[in-house]
Amino acid sequence: MYLTKEEERSYTGECGWADQKCMEILVRLGELFHATRLIPISSAHVSGVSYKTLGDAPTEYLEALANGGAQVKVKATLNPQSLDREYLGKKYEACLRDKQLSILRQFERMGFAQSLTCTPYYLEKQKRDAHLAWAESSAVVYSNSVLGAWTNREGGPSALAAAIIGKTPDYGIHKAENRQPTVQVKIARHLKNETEFGALGAYLGKILGDRIPAIQGLEGAAKDSLKQLSAALASTGMVNMFRFADESHSKKLQTEEKIVVETEDIRKAAQELSTASTEKPDLVMIGCPHCSLNEIRKVASLIGDKKFRDETEFWVCTSQCVKQRAQPYVRKIERSGGHVLEGVCTVVSWTERLKIETIMTNSAKTAHYAPTLSKADAILATKEECLKAALRR
Ligand code: F3S
Repeated sequence: MYLTKEEERSYTGECGWADQKCMEILVRLGELFHATRLIPISSAHVSGVSYKTLGDAPTEYLEALANGGAQVKVKATLNPQSLDREYLGKKYEACLRDKQLSILRQFERMGFAQSLTCTPYYLEKQKRDAHLAWAESSAVVYSNSVLGAWTNREGGPSALAAAIIGKTPDYGIHKAENRQPTVQVKIARHLKNETEFGALGAYLGKILGDRIPAIQGLEGAAKDSLKQLSAALASTGMVNMFRFADESHSKKLQTEEKIVVETEDIRKAAQELSTASTEKPDLVMIGCPHCSLNEIRKVASLIGDKKFRDETEFWVCTSQCVKQRAQPYVRKIERSGGHVLEGVCTVVSWTERLKIETIMTNSAKTAHYAPTLSKADAILATKEECLKAALRR
């Protein structure tokens, strides 16, 4: 792989141990995928922020990087953590809180914004055609497909290295020839809600592998629904982007395969994601991926003048930034007994310690991971159905 003089200096350790480690990661990755050079990026987004999933060894690595003087060279954001200070932080043991805080401190020392969100595209408008190094899979699919940015699905360590170096290897989705669809998908009928978009994503993720689909039938879809589609595609498969296609466009496409998604496929995919035998959830959660302002507004309006049941936790998950913008709706949700958690991902939190055994959600991604990562059964339902289950009659 060709390195500029400056990159060479990082690689040989002239710029310090931390830079050298990060450069080694990028060069190794580039060589693995036959990249010939590094390219500059506009931003990096790092996953692997929760102490629950990270554990102690990676935390020590972060500390060593920070001690070694690592500093981000581009705008660098962080995925959600395992708790928030106001609500879950008071429920979990102090040692877990301390470990989580120590991880955030190391990132802060390196210059990472404490964004703590899986929807970094809500923080500021993403430029079309910008090259990024993002590690959150749902945001990768959304930014490539809906926002027109260019990013591979990075792992936590490679996104971290890219943030420190300010560059990423030029391969995969960063090259125009690798962004062409290789399979056509036609949705047989109009999808009614965000949960059906999530179920479609879960269904397609399993059969597409890492292929890029041109999907016909997404016309007029709300961005919040496309977010659910993106998240689910990336959870059950390795899809990094999808393309929008209409009928005339589809006729011109030279793809090896055509898939028609029938109503029954969506129904079955949704059914498979609902593993619970009870209709009474312990937790009702909206906000995977993190809620937009529009979604929080919708939740608040669905509450009306009702209160949440005492025996059911109701959480809305979002970023601190969106929570601040949504203050009137946040107050309404909290007055009704719900909680708006900032910077938290329930999937990488310790919900099992709160005796949460059944999670109801409008997110196919959370439903997909709940049985393994949260040791809970899932009920996949629309926002409206979630509110109905959580509110008193
Ligand atoms: Fe975000 Fe966690 Fe869902 S990182 S996409 S809330 S699984």
